Amino acid sequence: MKNPDKLDHKHLPEHVVIIMDGNGRWAERKNLSRITGHREGIKAVSSIVGAGREVGLKYITLFAFSAQNWNRPKKEVLALMELLKQYLIEEGERLVEQDIKLNAIGRLYQLPEDVVETLESIIHKTKDCKTMTLTLALSYGSREEIVDTVKTLIKKGIDPEKIDEETISKHLYTSDIPDPDLLIRTSGEMRISNFLLWQLAYTEIYVTKTLWPNFRKRHLIKAIQNYQNRERRFGLTGKQIQKRD
Ligand code: IPE
Ligand code: IPE
Ligand code: MG
Repeated sequence: MKNPDKLDHKHLPEHVVIIMDGNGRWAERKNLSRITGHREGIKAVSSIVGAGREVGLKYITLFAFSAQNWNRPKKEVLALMELLKQYLIEEGERLVEQDIKLNAIGRLYQLPEDVVETLESIIHKTKDCKTMTLTLALSYGSREEIVDTVKTLIKKGIDPEKIDEETISKHLYTSDIPDPDLLIRTSGEMRISNFLLWQLAYTEIYVTKTLWPNFRKRHLIKAIQNYQNRERRFGLTGKQIQKRD
């Protein structure tokens, strides 16, 4: 079988980013605790990382914990940190086996020390992996990122006249990864929630009602198929774009 997943492999999005939303509602609908919802969400993470690699994506970025999520009830925050650590411990070896490089963006120093240590050790172990890069956005907020970037530029004493878009891009947390081609948000919410505001300038957006714990490879494929039927115009006319292709 040449094309079992019905995707056009010549036009895959290089970088897919996901706002993994709906763990709480998944649990509520089943009369379970929100924490059980998060635990179930981790299963979807493992599944989608493997699926993204199989499909041939080069970069996946997952919004796992926002700068604003610290304001949730203390018990939920603690459970999320514990689950994150467990995920990293359990998946670390598998990432190496799958040749997936782990990367993280956000104010990582705000995470508990043991989580940072585990994260850093897996980032180190996977540093030469080449098949795909998995970026976890942790304690991440895009406005916070922009504030940090402005501070870095000022501290470096960069001449304001020499600042252009590339200067900014090169000083964001995402300096090593390309801008996203496709953003997926699960659970039906139509908002960006402080995620990658600069980087999403020309990203295609796909929202599905599927709650994150239910999101699997077939849903990812459907999102990519939808992306492949779009015309990305970058401010040009349709005619100009068709000529370019
Ligand atoms: C996403 O699910 C996980 C995190 C934000 C950490 P939610 O916990 O936001 O689930 P809902 O939106 O309450 O259903
Ligand atoms: C966004 O989801 C953050 C993550 C998925 C980690 P939220 O559930 O926190 O976003 P809002 O509150 O619905 O905007
Ligand atoms: Mg939510």
